[in-house]
Amino acid sequence: MITFENPYFKIGTKDLNYIFRILPTGQLEHLYFGKKLIDQDYKALETKLTAGAGSTIEYTEGESKTYLDLMTLEYSGIGKGDFRLSPIEIKMPDGSYVNDFVYDSYQIIDGIVESKDLPISRANDQQVKSLVIKLIDKKFKIELKLIYTLFFNSNVITRRTQIINQDKHELVIRKIMSMMIDLPETDYDLMTFDGGWIKETHKHLRPLTYGTYINDSTTGNSSNRHNPGIILAKKGTHEDYGVCIGVNLVYSGNHYEAVQISNHGLMRVMNGINPHCFEWPLKQGELFETPESVLTYSNQGFNTLSQSFHEFINAHITPRQFQQMNRPIVLNSWEAFFFDFNQNKLQKLAKKASKLGVELFVLDDGWFGTRSNDHQALGDYDVNKKKLPGGLKGLSDNIHHMGMNFGLWFEPEMVNPQSKLFINHPEYSIQIEGRIPALGRNQLVLDLCNQEVRDYIYTQMSVVLDSAQIDYIKWDMNRHMTDMYSKTLTHQGMFFHSYILGLYELLNRITTQYPNIMIETCSSGGNRYDLGMLYYSPQIWASDNTDPIERLSIQEGLSYLYPQSTMSAHVSLAPHAQTLRKTPLSTRFNVASFGILGYELDLKYVSPIEKKEIKKQIELYKKYRNVFQYGKLYRHNSTDVHHKIWQLSYKDSHILGNYQTLSDASPNLETLKFKDLEDSKMYQVDSFQQSMSISRFGHLISHALPIKINFNGAIMRLISKYKQLDNATESFKASGRLLNHGFKMKQQFMGTWYNDQTRILGDYGSQLYIVGKI
Ligand code: GLA
Repeated sequence: MITFENPYFKIGTKDLNYIFRILPTGQLEHLYFGKKLIDQDYKALETKLTAGAGSTIEYTEGESKTYLDLMTLEYSGIGKGDFRLSPIEIKMPDGSYVNDFVYDSYQIIDGIVESKDLPISRANDQQVKSLVIKLIDKKFKIELKLIYTLFFNSNVITRRTQIINQDKHELVIRKIMSMMIDLPETDYDLMTFDGGWIKETHKHLRPLTYGTYINDSTTGNSSNRHNPGIILAKKGTHEDYGVCIGVNLVYSGNHYEAVQISNHGLMRVMNGINPHCFEWPLKQGELFETPESVLTYSNQGFNTLSQSFHEFINAHITPRQFQQMNRPIVLNSWEAFFFDFNQNKLQKLAKKASKLGVELFVLDDGWFGTRSNDHQALGDYDVNKKKLPGGLKGLSDNIHHMGMNFGLWFEPEMVNPQSKLFINHPEYSIQIEGRIPALGRNQLVLDLCNQEVRDYIYTQMSVVLDSAQIDYIKWDMNRHMTDMYSKTLTHQGMFFHSYILGLYELLNRITTQYPNIMIETCSSGGNRYDLGMLYYSPQIWASDNTDPIERLSIQEGLSYLYPQSTMSAHVSLAPHAQTLRKTPLSTRFNVASFGILGYELDLKYVSPIEKKEIKKQIELYKKYRNVFQYGKLYRHNSTDVHHKIWQLSYKDSHILGNYQTLSDASPNLETLKFKDLEDSKMYQVDSFQQSMSISRFGHLISHALPIKINFNGAIMRLISKYKQLDNATESFKASGRLLNHGFKMKQQFMGTWYNDQTRILGDYGSQLYIVGKI
């Protein structure tokens, strides 16, 4: 799976090869990343140069010479003729910025190369191997190690870099990328996942052209602005066709991904820690290591690429104890009560939730100190006995008696200036003497670079976690970083990265001490949705936005990089609090179920008929939990912006979600296709029976009924609470081949006629189809 036949290194996963060679001048030339090759000789992939062009610089080493600027390299330096974007910038012991790392030796090892303080993908099977290439600077005793790890079954190769200073003088790293790769083609588009609060991970595709495109974060976390995951796609690539390369980073701080098209038809790609405000001194004997970069490739479109990422995350990033585990269905108190609750109110809600089949009751913000709004008490994790007279134990015991688990919200990395913690320890928060610190959501960030602060947070959290049975933590983080300074650092260029190392240390301690408490992380929703956090917390609150139509874009964007098992998704009330959009309960479920399902609403405002529907939704989700949480995802190609189709397949069960964001007047007759069903097998197809509020028909109802009723009146509202209309269903048997070809769906309502065979979707309508092999 990893071979070296001088000068070629070859790494092979189940379907992919990654090949490079040692150049006669000592640098490494990238030769190939793609589907497996049967060749033994890679001469045909080598760059053939007989002369440099005009101003090109010639690199000479004894008899050998090359033109580094014209080569596809594995990593590059500065000051020896490669003028493209450099992956490494070091102030060398002689004060210059020139470095020249050349091949020294290699090592192949079983499993992964452990890291001292960074999360690194886990080697869960025997087929994980690593290759360590040692490069040495031509002038100084400085080692640069390129570490490659292959995850055979997931078709993933990861890369990272270590630098070790063996010279007696200090050096300063100003930039060090985890991975660099040069590809010999430029006809690619770049896909990024961007947004902001309540509009995270929207997919954007742009053509690449001469110059450099940067996707990054400077907020101190991986950010809701630009996710660290990017995809390079050959022009024309779609869900099921075409060549694409996926790149992600196991890191939760400021990240940086650059793609550069150079003047000779080469494309350079790199990712790693953002060099923004970064400087890291390295004394003799010290080592610096980068986070891990994750690479995969597909020549069958985006679906295959995403499936490789999903398989990799489920097997090699998710904490072992939560892999393939049934993730519980949550009821979260936040959108139900915000800060306005007491034990009685919580227990009433919990009781109703347990009757509907909810498995985990999560008490969100507001349970501690004087926290009755977001201006105060963050950092003071002593239980508010006025709200919870029985303490957390009393509440947790009662929740457990109802047959549910109990979860609790923390925001461990933050403090309100209006808090006991801040009064006692103002120096624990990040600020700079002589400057008024900028606030975000009325709070400051705690200095996780400082061991004393980390110890304090750990102790505070442990006291709470030991005080009651707590099965789950929602670990929140609600602001970006400013006023970056830590008195514990000798060099403030170390700030951002040291904070993240401190965070990982804290998470490590908590998860080691409490391995069975599942952590769901959150950062105002998806402000820190990355592989670093997923290493400690198997799921992440994808967005504070629970509007299903918005979630279609957010969850779909995430799905390119992350599996459904990581995506926490809740059903909330309609009209939606942020968009004021009124969507059917069925659609709220049909979207949330393509993730880790939860409900976040006060059941007091849910009618008896809707409660029945929620009960049925939960039953369905439990029955097909493996499909929803661990199924193979297929996004169906659609040129129609008003429709989306997602499919999940797990063994012999398949669930397809058909979503209509806006209805068309006199809609097309539709055919629904499945993907990858076995041609020669028979399947049973059933649509999930869902009902629809009579009120959706508005004034039409008075035309349909013998008596005239005011569609906005009290009688109508009362009827709507107890009676709904059933939507048309499908139930038939067909072969896999027929279903892959597509079946003709029942007609949609278009205003001229209605009976129980008419599908009613309208704006924001959707339906689930369940397909099982007979
Ligand atoms: C953030 C989270 C929400 C909720 C609130 C509580 O906004 O994203 O889900 O937990 O904090 O203050």
